[in-house]
Amino acid sequence: MQSQIIGTGACIPDNIITNEALEKLVDTSDEWIVSRTGIRERRRINSNEASSDLAYTSAKRALKNAGLKPDQVDLILVATATPDMLFPSTACMVQGKLGLKNIPAFDLSAVCTGFIYGLATADAFIKSGVYKTILLVGVDTLTKFIDYKDRTTCVIFGDGAGAVVIKATKEKKGIIASKLYADGSKWDYIHLPGGGSRIPSYKSDRNTYYLKMKGNDTFKVAVRGLEQAIVTLLKQCCISTSDIDIVIPHQANIRIIEALARKLDYPMEKIFVNIQKYGNTSAASIPIAFDEAIKENRIKDGDIILMTAFGSGLTWGASLIRW
Ligand code: ACO
Repeated sequence: MQSQIIGTGACIPDNIITNEALEKLVDTSDEWIVSRTGIRERRRINSNEASSDLAYTSAKRALKNAGLKPDQVDLILVATATPDMLFPSTACMVQGKLGLKNIPAFDLSAVCTGFIYGLATADAFIKSGVYKTILLVGVDTLTKFIDYKDRTTCVIFGDGAGAVVIKATKEKKGIIASKLYADGSKWDYIHLPGGGSRIPSYKSDRNTYYLKMKGNDTFKVAVRGLEQAIVTLLKQCCISTSDIDIVIPHQANIRIIEALARKLDYPMEKIFVNIQKYGNTSAASIPIAFDEAIKENRIKDGDIILMTAFGSGLTWGASLIRW
């Protein structure tokens, strides 16, 4: 059995935060943000909405695109670091909104690498014959956890959701393989200390609810980690970089993407980039970019697609797909 992606969908909030708007909040400039990150604007969810609202809309769009009714799904996976609440899972919230009962639903926590972890999990369930049709959503609403007085983080992150429907097929199409990594010794590189069992909400001050990031340290390990995941995965699959038709990377920083292209000697024109519009949407960034790449006719039948991401945990990984 192969795990074929048969539908995609995305949901991006309407509210735009421009670099000019951030210039009014912190000591920064459009020039600094564009040259250091590639970001021109990012989106922000309404204060009365949560991750499951974006996830639900992206899921409905992916199901429609796949030509399936919600009751044809037999597992829901949601990759998120910003669930509606500590529990129940956002996947259960999405299941309820879709009007489904009697199928399993659970969240995956690998932050910016969440979608790659989700692809690998869905692929394992399908290849082992446990489930046949899986809805996988990547969603994050990190603007809810950003200190808009901290210039080192507030310029980076935006909100969004992207979803895919993955179906068992006997055709030679779909997820070829994935490679996943983690290094928990560097958990403090990117973290959100408050609200969990270490610092429960009733004991914490507002500052513990804000995302903390050692940006520069993360940058260096990110480039090395992405390269390691890609080189190992390509070797395992006997595929070379020249066989890859398009790369859909996590959109964290344009300089990380450019450094990776240099290390792999891979042309930037074949790497899909939309960071300028949405910033870093964490687990949503790859499925949003994937949906856009398909809509822009950047992917054709038989293409080999490489997806790769790096994030808090630390976690990183890559997936290869035959379209
Ligand atoms: N505007 C102006 N100046 C700024 C800003 C800003 N928004 N932010 C930082 N600076 C300043 C710093 O204070 C520093 O000033 P100093 O030299 O006087 O001390 C200077 O700019 C350089 O700071 P660096 O942190 O070295 O800047 P860098 O070039 O590394 O860019 C960035 C920072 C954009 C965060 C980058 O390091 C990065 O993208 N890191 C990787 C992030 C990432 O991939 N995270 C993983 C996924 S996220 C997740 O999992 C949730």
